[in-house]
Amino acid sequence: MYEQAKNFLLPLYQNITFPSNRPLLTLTYAQSIDCKIALKGKPLLLSGKESMAMTHRLRIIHDAILVGSGTACIDDPQLNARHIPLEEMNNQPQPVILDTHLNLPLSCRLLKNYATGQGKQPWIITSSSSSSTDKKMALEKAGAKIFTIQESATGRLAWKDVLGILSKEGIQSVMVEGGSSIIQSCLLSGFVDQLIVTIAPVYVGDQGITVSATTNLENVQYQTFGRDIVMAAHPVKS
Ligand SMILES: NC(=O)c1ccc[n+]([C@@H]2O[C@H](COP(=O)([O-])OP(=O)(O)OC[C@H]3O[C@@H](n4cnc5c(N)ncnc54)[C@H](OP(=O)(O)O)[C@@H]3O)[C@@H](O)[C@H]2O)c1
Repeated sequence: MYEQAKNFLLPLYQNITFPSNRPLLTLTYAQSIDCKIALKGKPLLLSGKESMAMTHRLRIIHDAILVGSGTACIDDPQLNARHIPLEEMNNQPQPVILDTHLNLPLSCRLLKNYATGQGKQPWIITSSSSSSTDKKMALEKAGAKIFTIQESATGRLAWKDVLGILSKEGIQSVMVEGGSSIIQSCLLSGFVDQLIVTIAPVYVGDQGITVSATTNLENVQYQTFGRDIVMAAHPVKS
């Protein structure tokens, strides 16, 4: 299972050109056959174990994994690579959360794992308006490293600034994993170098959330992983 993931991903990353002024950005997510990626306010497991192994392989070949505060609150993810061979376990990516208003709960697994030596120190990127709050101090005390940037006109954190911070910290590749708002804004940002989408053969129905963009794709490849189809492609830069 893991060998299949390696064989699929190796040529994609061997042939990719790293941008010179920012980290390489891979956007990855899973969607249902009716194009839903999430349920409002609830976790939704779409990937089967084979495509999940592919996602964990993808995590290990990036310097950082990034999710939004919504996913951090709803899914309470660990943002590490687990379904991988033992000898690769030490090579864990840097967990990063985009959290404009510092909503990350102090009880989350990312902070617990760090405190117990089972995970890397979580990095939180937040807006300068949240930079002198009690919550900031509490998160720092609980182990988080906090970076602040100016909010953009939309009230959110701008991808250019986020990638600038990661670059300064020595991150050369970042895998953006969700959730729906982050995927949507990342797709529209024009910074996506590689798109990897798992399509699971399930219907989610009207309660599901979709993402959309008008981006054209090139170098499109598909492979089945168990019951899922995984598509890898490069968005055409305008
Ligand atoms: N299918 C998949 O592959 C997949 C993967 C991961 C998660 N999910 C699902 O996605 C859902 C969570 O999605 P979500 O939309 O609620 O939360 P999200 O996308 O994880 O996080 C959104 C939050 O991130 C903050 N943010 C800061 N900068 C941003 C920017 N440039 N663009 C967008 N957001 C920015 C915003 O906080 P403020 O509002 O405070 O500004 C925003 O509310 C969960 O149900 C989870 O299970 C699905």
